[in-house]
Amino acid sequence: MTVNIGIVGVGGMGQAHVARIRTELAGGRIAAVNDIDQARAERVAAPLGAAVYADDAQLVAAPEVDAVLVASFGPAHEATVTAAIAAGKPVLCEKPLAPTAAGCVRIMEAEARAGAKVVTVGFMRRFDRGYNEIKEAIAAGELGRPLIVHNRHRNPTVPQSYTADMAINDTAIHEIDTMRWLLGEEIAAVRVDQPRPTSRRFPHLADPLVLALVTESGVIAYDEVFVNIQYAYDIRCEVVLEAGTVALADQSATVRRDAAGARHRLTADHNQRFGQAFAAELQAWINAVAAGRQTGPTAWDGYAAAAVCDAGLRALASGGLEPVELIAKPALYA
Ligand code: NAI
Repeated sequence: MTVNIGIVGVGGMGQAHVARIRTELAGGRIAAVNDIDQARAERVAAPLGAAVYADDAQLVAAPEVDAVLVASFGPAHEATVTAAIAAGKPVLCEKPLAPTAAGCVRIMEAEARAGAKVVTVGFMRRFDRGYNEIKEAIAAGELGRPLIVHNRHRNPTVPQSYTADMAINDTAIHEIDTMRWLLGEEIAAVRVDQPRPTSRRFPHLADPLVLALVTESGVIAYDEVFVNIQYAYDIRCEVVLEAGTVALADQSATVRRDAAGARHRLTADHNQRFGQAFAAELQAWINAVAAGRQTGPTAWDGYAAAAVCDAGLRALASGGLEPVELIAKPALYA
């Protein structure tokens, strides 16, 4: 069976997903496209022979659309995702599922009404080989319990439209989900420290930030979020356990040695660094849709991460440790 996918939002991420589905992956095709930028939707749809819909609700309802891929911007996600749930169509939504925990609760309520899980959230790091090896090393137990995690999320630059809140809601949300998944527990409290800011930034940003994510069992996961570090897209994670550490290695398979020294090539952006993970995530979703089941992070995972972001924004304002307030987990996600 070929899964006919309708995509909402074909900017950077959406077009990267379209290219993967077209050239790298099996079992799926783009059948319909929607974007508030109609000309962009038409440009993307034309070489695919895909239909163009003027709004997301029409795309979701279209009979040729089996499943929906959402890559519009965060505040628009909830409307498309709830329309897909109501139509009983599987939906893969880019992070954030919604910008606030309250929006994610409404999405979970829609799934509860429908009585089925159809939502997958695009936390693709769960498909990255390196993070999976760290998870296996923790689970093996030979090094004891995890105690501390050191994360670094470094982007070369961000556009001027990037707001202070986005460092948490759009950027740190990746480490927030990855820590919940790696450590197998919820994050109970958050503090956000603000070191001296870089001078190579927009005045409206506090950059870098250091989050301290305190889990239910007391692990502290630090996350340096530095979105104007100039040199590369550099993602690092080191877990400190009782008798050793496990960390992501450098990504390059080769080391260059010359008169300037020995060095690894670094990646420039998320598509380069996480290309393997994005492909594995999308392929797993297409396979699951074809088999009629949900896969990957659920709406609960989207909610729990958003609740940590909400607390992170409070912590950014207060400077103190802010508790994460979670509702009881609905039975659907038990
Ligand atoms: P972008 O700004 O390049 O593209 C967004 C597209 O959505 C634009 O074409 C815009 O016209 C369209 N759009 C906005 N509102 C819409 C609406 N209501 N209906 C239909 N189309 C709408 O942004 P980008 O970087 O492609 O990000 C898209 C999503 O992907 C965001 O949720 C972002 O957080 C996520 N993302 C995820 C990454 C990851 O590592 N998993 C990396 C980068 C982005």
